[in-house]
Amino acid sequence: MSTPNSPSHWSGVLNSALDAVGNTPLVRLDRIAKNEGLKCNLLGKAEFFSVGGSVKDRIAKRMVEHAEKTGVLIPGQSVVIEPTSGNTGIGLALACAIKGYKCIITLPAKMSLEKEVLLKALGAEVVRTPTEAAHDAPESLIGVAETLRDKIPGGVILDQYSNPQNPLAHYFSTYGEIAYALETSDLPRKDIALLVAGAGTGGTISGLARAIRDAEKEKADGHKAFILAADPEGSILGGGDVGQYQVEGIGYDFFPDVLDRAPELIDAWIKSNDKEAFAATKRLIKEEGLCVGGSSGTALASTLKWLRSEAGRKIAEDPEANVVVMLPDGVRNYMSKPWFLESEEESSELHNTIRSIIGRDLNDAYNTKSKGSSGLNTNGAPNGIH
Ligand SMILES: Cc1ncc(COP(=O)(O)O)c(C=O)c1O
Repeated sequence: MSTPNSPSHWSGVLNSALDAVGNTPLVRLDRIAKNEGLKCNLLGKAEFFSVGGSVKDRIAKRMVEHAEKTGVLIPGQSVVIEPTSGNTGIGLALACAIKGYKCIITLPAKMSLEKEVLLKALGAEVVRTPTEAAHDAPESLIGVAETLRDKIPGGVILDQYSNPQNPLAHYFSTYGEIAYALETSDLPRKDIALLVAGAGTGGTISGLARAIRDAEKEKADGHKAFILAADPEGSILGGGDVGQYQVEGIGYDFFPDVLDRAPELIDAWIKSNDKEAFAATKRLIKEEGLCVGGSSGTALASTLKWLRSEAGRKIAEDPEANVVVMLPDGVRNYMSKPWFLESEEESSELHNTIRSIIGRDLNDAYNTKSKGSSGLNTNGAPNGIH
């Protein structure tokens, strides 16, 4: 289905938290657009508004419901096991908590403590795996999940990397919401000129791209959206060599099955590094008040790079062009991470004025921090948590 499909938000009384998956707002990023000299309408799809805090709630809900309908998951018997960078795990653990399934998540070591503790609070078992393990190594997140599935009675991997319900969740719900928001807005055009999304499994960008292309077949004006995939340096999805990077949830050392590489879908890939991603994340927070996570910064950094390029200039300068940037999760997933805790040297005029009035450093927090310590241990976790 490729037409606007829903009222924009829930109302009344919901049956459970699963009814609060998705239905996220499309928000104007006017301050960033102005500061960048862009004339186009820069819009962010803020997925942290979903109940589990990310874009992956959508696929978790759809994969579980489909597996129940087809008899793959049996209440009282099945154990849901999934390798994930955390957000799919949170969505699945949430669904399992509500529906009464046991849940095991395999999670690479680099993923945040916040994701691990939330998964545990939702009742899931969490098994950490080495970040640097190749995807097909037995000790990788996928290898360990498969071993557990083979040895635990009732073990089922719904497998976001190959499950068609993953891109379908975006084909239907994410695209339907974007189309509906544009259709009911006061923007001069109701279609997408540029869509930007990061790729982990590739489900988001593949499902959205397929829905956009299907909608375009029904359009009389022949206008086509440019679809841009954002990829971290160190991932092979958008080209380049395998390497380590801090941004979570996007990029891989293999091509997942659900990443649809049909030539008509993705027009270009663009690479960004951690520094660019985290700087753009902080801009979304500080300039737009959107408390997003690191992969949202990758998406914004990629968008701005492209709009500044020769190829992107036409859209950048068109006041009727709608640029939709997927913002996959929220910064509350990453509060213990050094990239978030490290702030630039505070030297604003207001900061200096306050310091001169109170006569001491603003970071002096009276015993809440010991001298010479940030209050965090070497992992970036609060002292006492290892
Ligand atoms: C924070 C974050 N951003 C982006 C993505 C990418 O989404 P997809 O797997 O649909 O490509 C994920 C997926 O786990 C994620 O956790």
